[in-house]
Amino acid sequence: MSITILGIESSCDDTAAAVIEDGFILSSKIASQEVHRHYGGVVPELASRAHQQNIIPVVEMALKTAGKTRNDLSAVAFTRGPGLLGSLLVGASFAKGFALARNIPLIDVNHLLAHVLAHFIQEKEGTKSLPEFPFLCLLVSGGHTQLIIVNDYLDMKIIGQTIDDAAGEAFDKCAKVMGLPYPGGPMIDKYAQPGNPLAFKFNKPRIENLDFSFSGLKTSFLYFLRDSLKENKSFIEDHRHDICASIQKTITDILTEKLIKAAIETGIKEIAIAGGVAANSALRTRISGEGLQRKWRVFFPELQYSTDNAAMIAITGYYKYMKSEFAPLDISPYARFEI
Ligand code: KG4
Ligand code: ZN
Repeated sequence: MSITILGIESSCDDTAAAVIEDGFILSSKIASQEVHRHYGGVVPELASRAHQQNIIPVVEMALKTAGKTRNDLSAVAFTRGPGLLGSLLVGASFAKGFALARNIPLIDVNHLLAHVLAHFIQEKEGTKSLPEFPFLCLLVSGGHTQLIIVNDYLDMKIIGQTIDDAAGEAFDKCAKVMGLPYPGGPMIDKYAQPGNPLAFKFNKPRIENLDFSFSGLKTSFLYFLRDSLKENKSFIEDHRHDICASIQKTITDILTEKLIKAAIETGIKEIAIAGGVAANSALRTRISGEGLQRKWRVFFPELQYSTDNAAMIAITGYYKYMKSEFAPLDISPYARFEI
């Protein structure tokens, strides 16, 4: 009999649902919340309300596209955390109600672990090559920056992480001080395309171990803009492409240098990148280049599975289902949640 998992993701500002059958993707739907653009960042209360409005239509759409009905589902998996508590509660409550009504198991999923397992989302007829265990994963999202040794689907060890801001946060905050709309990461990526990445130099943090830091960069970027604007009021407009390319190169360098150090220290040559910042074109080019030179096998998730999505929740749910790792109905979400 087939194992069919409905995945629900609601940790931040995307309401998403997906269906995975026997490890293969059948559908993945996302309702993104435009409302936050007006505020330059995610407003938690508005996010919770939008999740309430979106969750049922998104689940219906995911089931319809998958050609499945509620009766076909083996289990429902939901994001337990980390994330915004009010947002997580919507997905968790929906999943509980669904599991109770259908009398099927409930599966709680760690959002970070799911970002890593996005590498295993496959089409039925696809020929995608998958990373082999153990592999090294650089997880770079809006809230996290971690280096993880992945020993098995559900067995991971963090060997380095940010001590302050996440890489995505650094992109978003730098974009914000330039007056770019939220989320700033994709905007910086776009404006950087024709820019010169060597036009401006920013200091990189000096941290000996495998940890990261981005708060110093954010502050020095802010002072750099303030000083430059004193001399030329239209400095940002005049140099937008070069500024974006330069800050993007600095963030990319910080991430890549630590990844190289981790690969050397662990001796692992299977390298995977995950999380929203994995969509960054400069990071993709740089790490692919390093991979060729260092004989790594490098894996990037497809763009739609780099940023938040429910397919990664459903695939993680599938692996937990295979190990009968189910959640009790009195489970509650966690705003903070380690791998
Ligand atoms: O994984 P994700 O969708 O959500 C979290 O779990 O945080 O990551 C969102 C982050 C945001 O900071 C966004 O600016 C960043 O990923 N991001 C990018 C790009 N696309 C998304 N950063 C740089 N370049 C991109 N192309
Ligand atoms: Zn995420």
